[in-house]
Amino acid sequence: MTRFRTLDDLSVAGKTVLVRVDFNVPMKDGRVTDTTRIERALPTLRQLLDAGAKVVLLSHFGRPKGVARDDMSLKPLVPAIEAALPDVTLRFAPDCVGSPAREVIDQAAAGSLVLLENLRFHCGEEKNGGDFADALSALGNLYVNDAFSAAHRAHASVDALARRLPAAAGRLMQAELEHLSQALENPARPVAALVGGAKVSTKLALLGNLVERVELLIVGGGMANTFLLAQGLDVGKSLCERDMAATARDILDRAEEAGCDVMLPSDVVTAGALEPGAATAVCATRDVPVDSLILDAGPQATAEIIQRLESCKTLVWNGPLGAFEVEPFDRATVEVARAAADMTASGRLLTVAGGGDTVAALSHAGVAERFSYVSTAGGAFLEWLEGKRLPGVVALEQAAQERSVA
Ligand code: 3PG
Ligand code: MG
Repeated sequence: MTRFRTLDDLSVAGKTVLVRVDFNVPMKDGRVTDTTRIERALPTLRQLLDAGAKVVLLSHFGRPKGVARDDMSLKPLVPAIEAALPDVTLRFAPDCVGSPAREVIDQAAAGSLVLLENLRFHCGEEKNGGDFADALSALGNLYVNDAFSAAHRAHASVDALARRLPAAAGRLMQAELEHLSQALENPARPVAALVGGAKVSTKLALLGNLVERVELLIVGGGMANTFLLAQGLDVGKSLCERDMAATARDILDRAEEAGCDVMLPSDVVTAGALEPGAATAVCATRDVPVDSLILDAGPQATAEIIQRLESCKTLVWNGPLGAFEVEPFDRATVEVARAAADMTASGRLLTVAGGGDTVAALSHAGVAERFSYVSTAGGAFLEWLEGKRLPGVVALEQAAQERSVA
């Protein structure tokens, strides 16, 4: 288990606490369209505010590459944050360092919030720059990192800043790490991993790590086609990476050595094109017509996956089993997700999901609330599945060893 400080170790009354959140939220026409990341930060914010801290929110938004851009300002988030904390005063500072930030923070009272402008408007953020981290650290007394979904970035607000102030993990960071550890570091066995999505090439390191750690690897989505091809099957016009076939074979060999069972779909849903309402056919995986695309796992494969999950105790889920955005190619994803949620509800299966399209797929299936834990992270979840040490977590661990809390 990771060793870092938490809010339990800080005394925050009367202090200014810099809280790194990940408010890189989906927006459309200047409005937040999904407030999940804001809501998931609330336990930390509430606890600090209730304890009498002045809370300063630090976040990035988009990838402005060191340039201030109106379309990447954090200002449009103000109404969404106010709606989430209606009884708390929120001030917005038009820059995240220097006197514009200082002045707004000075005006704010204990028990109130300040949102600083996008960290990535300064190139020191992504460069993990010492001067930029110094300028940030000058704004507060304590540092809390509640941005697990940005923990894979060795940026100033994630890494260098944690080395400059007494540092602790926020409640969301803590919850993410506890659940992820429960799923792969210390899991109830057997463990299954379900990995879907378009490409093997983006998930090579992840697959390589998982075959060493899980008993069952269920592969779906476009990447399953590359594995089928590696086994000598014809996948017709399906999305696949022909140059990755040898790599896929290597992963299958490593899985066999490690005693990990790799499950590929035994039947598939095909169509002539990826279009809503396209005429579909179901066939055995070895009988895919040359002019067809595989767009989902078939009904037999779906039933087999559900049956295998019945004998597992833990499931880590990343990615969809088919082209779930287009009906009816969402069937396998929806049915397996609902079955996993039912097993979770009856206490038979611990289900942890995250990364990329996963949350969208589970929400589409109506089960995002019924899994044991759904991570807020995309890339950070994937890197964690790869077995990598995340810079933001390492910084918190080192801070706990090196610095005492003021
Ligand atoms: C995310 O949304 O995945 C995180 O906020 C990280 O964003 P980034 O990929 O731009 O670093
Ligand atoms: Mg990302």
